[in-house]
Amino acid sequence: MKIDILSLFPDMFKGVFSESIIKRAIDNKLVEINIHNFRDYTKDPHNKVDDTPYGGGCGMVLTPQPIFDCVEKLKTKDSKVILLTPSGRPYKQKLAYSLSHEKHLIIICGHYEGFDERIRTLADIEISIGDYILTGGEIASMVLVDSITRLIPGVIKEQSHLEDSFNNNFLLDYPTYTKPRVYKGMEVPEVLLSGDHKKIEEYRKNESIKKTKELRPDLLEK
Ligand SMILES: C[S@@+](CC[C@H](N)C(=O)[O-])C[C@H]1O[C@@H](n2cnc3c(N)ncnc32)[C@H](O)[C@@H]1O
Repeated sequence: MKIDILSLFPDMFKGVFSESIIKRAIDNKLVEINIHNFRDYTKDPHNKVDDTPYGGGCGMVLTPQPIFDCVEKLKTKDSKVILLTPSGRPYKQKLAYSLSHEKHLIIICGHYEGFDERIRTLADIEISIGDYILTGGEIASMVLVDSITRLIPGVIKEQSHLEDSFNNNFLLDYPTYTKPRVYKGMEVPEVLLSGDHKKIEEYRKNESIKKTKELRPDLLEK
């Protein structure tokens, strides 16, 4: 998969994409990620990419020209253009799965007060990562890239993400333990030491349902 991210702050991505699973996916050529500073596309004589809002109001608004030119240069018939905005479709694991099957994602990060409304016409999908306001789309795009990359075949073991929370009938993941067997008086449940795989599977399923009922009853309604 190829991912092109449009951002005014390319340095923000350096650490995140050069560590852990994303780095390995890049090194193994399972994903290619490019950051484009759309300021490089502005035709404004002073290199501006934003302006004051018509009708008045506070903050600066991203102008359409640099973002249009950048997207139009990158876009092919295989591209899906994502606009990050708090008013977009709420981001969920199901959407991460569906996006992980795409060949090419173009992700537009807004900033300042937001973007000129006409930029929305570029988007195939508008996504929000939650009901709160970030300074810009950069962190939201990292959330998308991380959650999508780990679902690309070959990046991590399929079994591993199939058992994650939200995948398994919308249930939360079951509790896991590792060594030592007893820590500060807290013991690992006996069944996990039994070697009886059927019983372990049953225990995990029940714990998963119990945990979901307790922490996220809304998921069980699905
Ligand atoms: C400060 S926000 C603008 C908020 C805008 N005035 C509003 O109320 O909808 C700047 C940019 O950050 C990004 N952003 C902020 N919160 C986000 C969220 N929850 N999900 C996705 N993107 C977000 C968007 O790209 C947005 O254009």
